[in-house]
Amino acid sequence: MKIVIIGCGGFIGSHLLEALIAKGGHELVGWDICFEKITHLQDEPSLKLRYGDIYEQDNFKKLRSDIDRADVVFNLAAICNPAEYNTRPLDVIRSNFINPYPVFEACAVSGTWMIHTSTSEVYGRTLSSYVNDYSDSSLYELREDETPLIMGPIHNQRWTYASAKQLQERLIYAFGDEYGLPYTIIRPLNFFGPRMDYLPGRDREGTPRVLACFLGALLDNKPMQLVDGGHARRTITSIHDAINAFLKILELPHVAQTQIFNIGNRNNEVSMLELAEEMRQSYYRITGDKQSLEHPIVEVSSEEFYGKGYEDCDRRMPNVSKAEHLLDWKAAIPLKDILDETIAYYIKKHQNACKRKQTIKKELYVC
Ligand code: NAD
Ligand code: UGA
Repeated sequence: MKIVIIGCGGFIGSHLLEALIAKGGHELVGWDICFEKITHLQDEPSLKLRYGDIYEQDNFKKLRSDIDRADVVFNLAAICNPAEYNTRPLDVIRSNFINPYPVFEACAVSGTWMIHTSTSEVYGRTLSSYVNDYSDSSLYELREDETPLIMGPIHNQRWTYASAKQLQERLIYAFGDEYGLPYTIIRPLNFFGPRMDYLPGRDREGTPRVLACFLGALLDNKPMQLVDGGHARRTITSIHDAINAFLKILELPHVAQTQIFNIGNRNNEVSMLELAEEMRQSYYRITGDKQSLEHPIVEVSSEEFYGKGYEDCDRRMPNVSKAEHLLDWKAAIPLKDILDETIAYYIKKHQNACKRKQTIKKELYVC
């Protein structure tokens, strides 16, 4: 197949590229503005890398001709870091709704199959969170074609990303409905793995997603910060399980087209407090550093941590029966293995710049 990957240099893109190259038989074109995470793939003969912001006019012309020639386009490019939803709201809306419009249009005109990564954030908050009842799973379980999508008020700019992504999905659906655009929408649920995000103060400044925040704190010997008590719950999915789902979709166009899939792992649900505790355990398993088991965890308000306009998704428990039945896919990797792999990867990467002891036990270093 001729496949275009927009955002190929990011976390998901880098793993997707690796998997597609390993499978073989594809002609790949990858677009991004940063190739740091894929330097090891740059000389692959089946891969053409194109550097540049796809929304600049000349780049978009080139991308458009790539799309015309392609069988499939994976659309991964986006600003997708919660610390930016309320601090760069216009950029978030541009990146997740306004800018991608011509990409969808180009796919619709050329009839190219678009596999689009949306987000579980389109569900917003659960009905349970409004009636304070988590005893009935129908009030919180997330079903692709049934669950209402509930965003908070406009001044809570946390929802800029979720709303833009939701409107993107509606646009794709409308292009499918009116112009026959072949599409598949993936709603990822907290994919974790090597090359996810950046470590603050090491790779660059900023506030990344939770795993990198907690890990940065562990490595720098600073307290892990629990936002609003760490009650929010997430289901953590290994990037390897996730990429298997992407490959299954690719193999099954007739089944996967016009579908929306939750891609998540129901067995790996944790509160953020439990995640912090699990990460301390994992850090100990990897380094043998006993003190890490007592590493300080402090509470911080969301306003202090993210600034004004943050509101949290309370719980994300996906129903994954569509992916199981239609794609014959099921996530298999337990949280412990996901954390061990990811933490070991980052410790190895930053070995020389850590403020605490961290000799890696060889048998646990899996990357
Ligand atoms: P990422 O930030 O690691 O990757 C996105 C890539 O897109 C980056 O390399 C970035 O440089 C590139 N990009 C952004 N704008 C671009 C532009 N204008 N031109 C060219 N390249 C551009 O993010 P990720 O974690 O790999 O996520 C990929 C997609 O999946 C996003 O759409 C995100 O919303 C969605 N998603 C991810 C997760 C997750 O758990 N990682 C969860 C839900 C949704
Ligand atoms: C993320 C991002 O919005 C997207 O990357 C993605 O679309 C979405 O997940 C998804 O998987 O669907 P979220 O899970 O809220 O959303 O992002 P994190 O930054 O990883 O935060 C998870 C939880 O940890 C939140 O409750 C947050 O408040 C908390 N947190 C974060 C802390 O308690 N401490 C920290 O240091 C950082």
